[in-house]
Amino acid sequence: MTVDQHEWLAFAKSIALKAGDMIVAFREENAFQKDYKLGHELVTSADLAVDQLLVSSLAEKYPTHGIMSEESFPNLDLGSQDENVPVWVIDPIDGTVNFAHGHKHVAVSIGLYLGGERILGVVNAPFLGECFWALRGQGAYCNDAKLSVSGAIDLRNALVATGFPYVKKDIATILARVSNVLHACQDIRRNGSAALDLCWVAAGRLDAYFESVKPWDMAAGALIAEEAGAYVGHYASTQNEWPEVVDGESLLVSTPELCEKLCVLLK
Ligand code: IPD
Ligand code: CA
Ligand code: CA
Repeated sequence: MTVDQHEWLAFAKSIALKAGDMIVAFREENAFQKDYKLGHELVTSADLAVDQLLVSSLAEKYPTHGIMSEESFPNLDLGSQDENVPVWVIDPIDGTVNFAHGHKHVAVSIGLYLGGERILGVVNAPFLGECFWALRGQGAYCNDAKLSVSGAIDLRNALVATGFPYVKKDIATILARVSNVLHACQDIRRNGSAALDLCWVAAGRLDAYFESVKPWDMAAGALIAEEAGAYVGHYASTQNEWPEVVDGESLLVSTPELCEKLCVLLK
């Protein structure tokens, strides 16, 4: 790992912690408003303020880097990015519905990739006091504790997480997948933060996770899961709308022993 990468990680952690404090303050002071984007997707003034903090901090510190963020730059054309330019991919609040309802399962997610490789990921869960992070080739951590996947082999004992999209048009197909998994596995969880689902697979608290998500939901968590020994891939072929490292379509993350069995259930 280069000196740069360690420095990028330290900076990502510092702004993820700051953002986490901001999220806690917004809730403690009940100082946020709710709105809906695209007609159905909840967004709060806290999402926008945290996005602003992260984007402005990164742009000031690394003016030559690319930034894709859910709230201010969701349409960054990743395909046209120069391979040598690091790209930050940010979700200011992953788990907005949880945040607005007073739940604790909420995270700030910051990933960085470069030339087709995931370089670092930081997922800070401020209400839980857990900051997950990873640097390529250096393992994955929760605070100071090293993470590794559960090692689950059998579907029957596997606890599997998933999530549901805001737009419900494909819900019948999704529910058919959920039904297959429920019949074959131990149980299902819908925790409400994709970034944390990935980290929980990394921590061995979940054995697998599947869902179609956006780059900012998974850019950081995918590296954290990978570095903890998880399989990170897809349960179906994707439309290649995004570079592979941030392509969350048909995302499957699991212990290496479960991925093929789950692919059969999820096809
Ligand atoms: C959502 C959460 C949720 C997942 C959705 C995401 P948001 O992100 O990660 O768990 O099921 O697909 O959109 O809107 O809270 O940032
Ligand atoms: Ca999200
Ligand atoms: Ca979000």
